[in-house]
Formats: sequence, structure tokens, C-alpha cells
Amino acid sequence: MPASDDHHAALDRRPGPFDTLTGVLGGLFVGHCLAAVARFGIADALDDTPRTAEELAEATGVNPEALGRVLRLLAAHGVFAADSDRFTHTGASRMLRSDHPQSWRDFAATFGSESTVKRLAYFDYSLQTGLPVTNKLNPDGFFAILDSDPEAGRVFDAAMASKARIQVASVLAAYDFSDCGTIADIGGGQGHLLQAVVDAAERTTGILFDLPPVIERAAEIASDRLTLQPGDFFKDPLPACDTYMLMDVIHDWDVERATAILAAVRKAAPPHARLLLVESVIPDDPGPDWSKAMDIVMLIHTGGRQRTRGEHESLLHTCGFRLKRVIATASDVSIIEAACA
Ligand SMILES: C[S@@+](CC[C@H](N)C(=O)[O-])C[C@H]1O[C@@H](n2cnc3c(N)ncnc32)[C@H](O)[C@@H]1O
Repeated sequence: MPASDDHHAALDRRPGPFDTLTGVLGGLFVGHCLAAVARFGIADALDDTPRTAEELAEATGVNPEALGRVLRLLAAHGVFAADSDRFTHTGASRMLRSDHPQSWRDFAATFGSESTVKRLAYFDYSLQTGLPVTNKLNPDGFFAILDSDPEAGRVFDAAMASKARIQVASVLAAYDFSDCGTIADIGGGQGHLLQAVVDAAERTTGILFDLPPVIERAAEIASDRLTLQPGDFFKDPLPACDTYMLMDVIHDWDVERATAILAAVRKAAPPHARLLLVESVIPDDPGPDWSKAMDIVMLIHTGGRQRTRGEHESLLHTCGFRLKRVIATASDVSIIEAACA
């Protein structure tokens, strides 16, 4: 009996180079759909009852036909699940709800924001120069934009708090902060990590250090055990503390400026102080890893980079620190523990 067309089709469907290309290029639009769904609060409109695209579109003010197509694509990648003409949540789509304890909504939304999309339009500039697109569009730098535009600053702070939710839980589970004494969180944003550490380790106290407008927006977290210190780590002295934490700060900067920040920490640090860099570490494994995507995000936005263990070690060494250990956590970040050399 001759083989059926289906049989030939099945043989031809073995993944090959073309599938590699379509998978990677299609990812551009999968990510964009994810960011749009986060911005429009689609996951918030879906509870435990399966809903049609029409119902979700009516609740969120988008086009039902377009939303159905967007959700079909996302569901093919495990964000939402499609069940005939209805959609339900998966673990991943639940993380896009605003009320999820580890909500990634505000972080995911920024990947499709007007400013991000505008930078992507100038991607070639970064590829040709190795410099961030921000240099071309906003020569004063990424953080100066947030300084001068309060709404942009608020959106960024919310994105960082959202990004950090899963990281903070994973850091607390992986590290014992009980003997960390006074801890400075340098570039600590809204203080989400520091507040959680101080709450978890009752003998610790905290100092949140960040740019003045950021600290102003964090005013309500000040307490007996958590003080706020506005300042610029390139210009102002840092506080003397037992422990310094920097989460996703060093990755914002090129080697010259990352060195300046760590040198400022070393200058302020008493000899017994410990340093905890909370960052993703690019693995030796050549396979896909979120850190390699975030490395490109850093390339175009701030001119920073994600680093390998060796790159972290060499940076620390240059700035007068000795890397002691790298502790993996259950999220994308590791804790890079260092002592004064
Ligand atoms: C990528 S965010 C990380 C925030 C927080 N540590 C987290 O992981 O959620 C970088 C932080 O560095 C702060 N920052 C940038 N430039 C700074 C400067 N010159 N002095 C002090 N803080 C700065 C930003 O305001 C922002 O809060």
C-alpha cells in the first residue's frame, strides 16, 4: 500500500535547520505578544473560569479576533492554555496577574513599551558600535531619562520590583543573612530586597542607597531598622556597613563604570565587610539561557552586560575584593559572595 501523504508529511516534519530559524525568529513575536498581553492586563481578566477571546477582549478593550490569535500563539508556548474556543491559565500566565505573589506583569510589560520598541528600531547602532542605543537617542544616559521624567521613573521602579519578586524569594531561600549586621543595598531601587532581608533576619539593619528621586518614591519603607540614603554612587560617599548588596546593578554598566562603583564600595567598606553581588552569571554551557538574552537587553539599553563567573572574579579582583563563592538560587540570579582582599 502506498504511503499516505500524512506519512510523508510526518517524515518531513523532523526538526531541521529551517525549524531552528523559524523557532528563533518567531520568538520575536511570541515575546512581543507576551509583553502586550501583560500591558493590557489580559491575565488579570482571566480567573479560574475558562473564557473566550471575545469575553477577555470585552473586559480589556482590545479586538477579539486579534486577541484570539495572540492567545493561540502564546498558548502554543505554554503561556495560557487553549481548550477549544476557551482559554485557561497555566502556571506561566498566572505569573502575569497583578495579584500573583511573584507577579512579572510590570516587568514583562516594559519589553513592549514605546521606549523599548524605539530602541529596538536602532539595534544596528549597537551592533555596529558596541554602544547602547540609548547613547544615540538620549545622550545623557538611561538613568538620566528616569531622573527627568517622573512617570518613566515610576514605571521603571515598578518593573524592577516586579522583576525582583521571584529573585528576592530565591535569594532569601539560598542565603543566611542572620549575621550580616548593617546591610547597605546599593542601587536598591524601592528597597524590595532589603526590606525582605531585614524582615527575615531580625538582628540586621538596612540602609537603602539610590538616586534621590528613587529614594523619594521609596519614602514609605523607612523604619527604625531601615534608613534611606539618597546619593549618586559615582559622586557621593557610600555608607560604612558590614555587608554590601548590589542586585542587578553591576550588569547595568561597562567595565569602566562597574569598576568605579565597586571601587567606591571598597573605599567605604571596613576590612571585615562582605560584598554580595546578586546577578545572573552567564553559564559555560553554550545552550539557551535567560542571562544571554538579558545581556542583549543590557547592550542596547544601558551599555552594560551580563558576566561569566570569570568576568565577575576579575572585576572584583581589580576593585580590591576576593571572590569567595558563587551560590546558585532557584531564580535567574546567583549570589556572588566576596570579601575585602
Ligand atoms: C536595574 S535597577 C536594580 C534595582 C534593584 N537593585 C533590583 O534589582 O530590583 C538599577 C538601580 O540602580 C540605580 N542607580 C542607577 N544609577 C545610579 C547612581 N548613579 N547612583 C545610585 N543609584 C543608581 C537605579 O536608580 C536603579 O534603582
